Amino acid sequence: MDEVNCRRLTGATAIVTGAAHGIGVAYARRLAGEGARLVVADLDGDAAEKVAASLREEGREAIAVQADIADEASVGRLATAALDAFGTITVLVNNAAMFSVVPMSRASFDAIEPAEWDRLMEVNVKGPWLTTRAVAPAMRERGYGKIVNISSGTALKGSATRIHYVTAKAAILGFTRTLARELGGDGITVNCVAPGSTLSEENPDEATVSRRAERLGDRALKRVQMPADLVGAVAFLASPDSDFVTGQTLVVDGGSVMH
Ligand SMILES: NC(=O)c1ccc[n+]([C@@H]2O[C@H](COP(=O)([O-])OP(=O)(O)OC[C@H]3O[C@@H](n4cnc5c(N)ncnc54)[C@H](O)[C@@H]3O)[C@@H](O)[C@H]2O)c1
Repeated sequence: MDEVNCRRLTGATAIVTGAAHGIGVAYARRLAGEGARLVVADLDGDAAEKVAASLREEGREAIAVQADIADEASVGRLATAALDAFGTITVLVNNAAMFSVVPMSRASFDAIEPAEWDRLMEVNVKGPWLTTRAVAPAMRERGYGKIVNISSGTALKGSATRIHYVTAKAAILGFTRTLARELGGDGITVNCVAPGSTLSEENPDEATVSRRAERLGDRALKRVQMPADLVGAVAFLASPDSDFVTGQTLVVDGGSVMH
């Protein structure tokens, strides 16, 4: 659902990290569809360029920036590239993470290697912090900004295996609330979306499809979750419609976690 009647982001600039693959592509397309100028940021620069080029072909304004969110200098260059291209940064969607494109072990807590634990924390926790630090000055200067962090339903209900990932996603909940309090005085809202298990892989194997299908059991809405199911929540939290909403976590999982 790229074509939307809503144009809530006309004149806004949005950075979506991890927008070269998976759900991030859907966020980028929806925000661009609502009128935002898009900065498609990803470790995979070639794929990011393809997404940006496809948006430009559809008449949107978009650039791609190769960036590693775990690297301070790299996210500094990302913020500079966004400002050089579009002059402002209105929206940041902290979506990039080690998940499936940059994979993590789905193993029991005592089978995960310390080096993988450290790298995952660097990308999935430190990454959103570094990226936020890089873009906050531009938002503060204008007295307006929208930050949307991506957690996971697993942080709210636990998930046997991949404790490093679930721990990192739980950190994003506290990160969201603290940032919301620190940045509220600058007119910047900070919210979080917690997706349920989503079929985001471009070419999912049978094991992945059946793992996603297993999640139907504890859901009120009995179908597989797709990236398109998440874009409305992110667009709302990126738009002026949510200007008096901050520090919140919106669970989008078909009614698995209810809180
Ligand atoms: N798919 C799901 O079931 C699900 C469920 C809950 C939460 N999430 C979260 O949603 C977000 C997107 O998930 P997805 O399924 O699209 O994941 P994905 O693995 O398909 O895509 C993640 C993207 O982030 C990029 N990336 C990874 N490390 C990076 C780094 N260091 N710097 C910059 N970019 C980097 C990858 O290249 C990729 O394009 C993630 O934060 C994930 O944790 C996903």
